[in-house]
Amino acid sequence: MTSKKLKASITGVHGYVPDYILTNRELETLVDTTDEWIVTRTGIKERRILKGDMKGTSILGVECVKGLLNKTDTDPKEIDLIICATVTPDMLFPSTSNLIADRVGASNSYGFDISAACSGFIYALATGSQFIEAGTHKKVIVVGADKMSSIIDYEERKNCVLFGDGGGAVLLEPSEDENGIQDYLLKSDGSGGDMLCLKAGGSLKPASIETIKNKEHYIYQEGSSVFKFAVTNMADISEEIMNNNNLSSDDVAYLVPHQANKRIIDATAKRMGIGPEKVLLNIEKYGNTTAGTIPLCLWDFENKFKKGDNLILAAFGGGFTWGSLYLKWSYNN
Ligand code: UT7
Repeated sequence: MTSKKLKASITGVHGYVPDYILTNRELETLVDTTDEWIVTRTGIKERRILKGDMKGTSILGVECVKGLLNKTDTDPKEIDLIICATVTPDMLFPSTSNLIADRVGASNSYGFDISAACSGFIYALATGSQFIEAGTHKKVIVVGADKMSSIIDYEERKNCVLFGDGGGAVLLEPSEDENGIQDYLLKSDGSGGDMLCLKAGGSLKPASIETIKNKEHYIYQEGSSVFKFAVTNMADISEEIMNNNNLSSDDVAYLVPHQANKRIIDATAKRMGIGPEKVLLNIEKYGNTTAGTIPLCLWDFENKFKKGDNLILAAFGGGFTWGSLYLKWSYNN
């Protein structure tokens, strides 16, 4: 008798965005931009901002995880592991996952952060699934959250229109059937690192008066170059995972794409041969929340999903990193 490989299923999802809405209209008063430029070039209408002093990404993560535990009726002490994907950790260390675990009462959990920028949630989901598939962990929480406003220069128009704050979290448990995470592809290319990065604040260039003067603690992006890599690689990797799993466009229920730019998402969907009705979009409400976009999308559209639906998750981001993940949704609402 052959034993079936254990699969990891998402058994719950919860998201969180701060209350403050930064609209395109408000951005028009801060920098030389227009609502029309932002909407036609990116698809973004507004984004959320976490206001107030001493509020880091862990606040977003804690809200997501508390909501998730409540919704899935899970005792925090049952959680074995919390993985947090973020590039805006509260501090370089300790990890944001440790701070979240403490504040939600997950006292039997250990945790670590994953830094893979906009692909962070897919990297973390693939990582979390390994612990379930190995049979060593029963309940793993994967968080994707970023407070992008903490690394944005609101005097410079190129990036401030793109990003927002927010996050989401999923609970992973052993699957009771054939549903769950089926396959994933993860890639990276460090030669693109300089095109999308935070230049200072790490060991290469520790914070100094000079780095602050040069605004090197704000995100640096060569937008149009990154755009070209993103379009090609996100489309390629989404097509590749479909081919590897013999999925036709009819088999795919939904594409859950990283929300960086609607034009990148459209190109990916076109390559996959799937129509707009199958493409999940919330970029207009939240902008690019980096590791937060995909779990926020799962949360926003959870009610649409039916048990057994084939979902393709796809992302491209700083690193460069990119990835796709194929899962069969595990529950009906
Ligand atoms: O999420 C992780 C990975 N990141 C991405 O996927 C982002 C990829 N890049 C993009 O989405 C796009 O490149 C952007 C949205 C960032 C920019 O769009 P674009 O169509 O590539 O514009 P561009 O950078 O080529 O700039 C076109 C023009 C320039 O003016 P000139 O030189 O033609 O006079 C810019 O200065 O648009 C100007 N511009 C703006 N104008 C109004 C740039 N930002 C703005 C702005 N408002 N906010």
